[in-house]
Amino acid sequence: MLGHVKHSRQTFPKPRCCFVGFLFLLGVCLLYLPDPLTLEPLVSEENSGATLLIWTHPFGRYRKLPDCFALYQIGGCTLTDDGRAYPQADAVIIHHREVASGTADLPQEPRPRAQKWIWMNYESPAHTPRLWRFEDVFNLTMTYRTDSDIFLPYGYLRPREHRTNGLQNRFAHPLRAPSRLHLLRPRLLAWVISNWSESHARVALYYQLRRYIQVDVFGRAGRPLPEDSGGSVVRLVGRYQFYLALENSQHTDYITEKLWNAVRAGAIPVVLGPSRQNYERFLPPEAFIHVDDFPTVRGLARYLLMLRRNPARLRQHLDWRGSYSVHQPTFWAEHYCTACRAVRRNRGRTDVVEDLTRWFHS
Ligand SMILES: *[C@@H]1O[C@H](CO)[C@@H](O)[C@H](O)[C@H]1NC(C)=O
Ligand SMILES: *[C@@H]1O[C@H](CO)[C@@H](O)[C@H](O)[C@H]1NC(C)=O
Repeated sequence: MLGHVKHSRQTFPKPRCCFVGFLFLLGVCLLYLPDPLTLEPLVSEENSGATLLIWTHPFGRYRKLPDCFALYQIGGCTLTDDGRAYPQADAVIIHHREVASGTADLPQEPRPRAQKWIWMNYESPAHTPRLWRFEDVFNLTMTYRTDSDIFLPYGYLRPREHRTNGLQNRFAHPLRAPSRLHLLRPRLLAWVISNWSESHARVALYYQLRRYIQVDVFGRAGRPLPEDSGGSVVRLVGRYQFYLALENSQHTDYITEKLWNAVRAGAIPVVLGPSRQNYERFLPPEAFIHVDDFPTVRGLARYLLMLRRNPARLRQHLDWRGSYSVHQPTFWAEHYCTACRAVRRNRGRTDVVEDLTRWFHS
């Protein structure tokens, strides 16, 4: 019988990813990242399966629930979106947006004993309203933050020599060391932006940057994605040497698909988001150019233009690619399956998320 451990964020801070790891090797760090596909098989006790209730489909968009075993070799998971399963569910995944906006209520209390309520959210704190309503409600957090109870980021790298199996390869995009053509991409700098807001730091940056360097803007605020890119951001960005991966707001670990699409496409990301140190938990230091690396926007523009004239220098930002694959988890299939695996592992514990607002804004 497992003891009941009540853990609070204040008294038992968890080891933070990579503070130590990066001093040695990226590979060490990545051991802290979730590894949905190469996990050691769970001891398949007959009765250790878990039923996970998906309380709402995120943003009200229905998606067929995945088969976790077929996709990720995570067994023992029953996923359901049928509220009638509530009394039997081992855990309920509750996506923030719907309960915060009132389009859905929280499940009825009292909750079945041992049932976990999982708070799932992939928006930044700036776009996560009414958090204060949910203090002492949830048992586990699931977000892009490395210190979440269930951590699954928007993307992550894996060293290529990492032992892989067929399944993992299905979801990993191997990166390539730069070829000669890669160093001579004809187009310079792209930005795809869907939510244009004059109040965003990224828009202010753009206004300054375009005084010094050509920026091709796509998305709602600029030109539509060109036909021949098939609407694919990765294909479009693959023609450019640099890509502006500018987050809508700047918060701990809030590094979204904007960065990972650029990495996949082989464009060097120019990032605006959390600090350089924070990005370095996820990527080698030379894999990106941080706007904070330069005292002025003009300095940043000059650096990009200088790199373009110096393939040898450019290469220094790209050579790391030969040893990595990038993985972009599939919303929301992989999230559900990862959560299910965590629930199976956390069985028998009592967890309470006490300082949700303070923690998420920290
Ligand atoms: C767009 O940005 C504005 C300003 O920050 C924000 O209020 C709004 O929620 C954003 N919309 C989306 C769809 O992210
Ligand atoms: C879940 O959280 C609730 C509310 O804080 C708490 O009363 C309950 O004991 C927790 N249950 C588990 C299984 O962690």
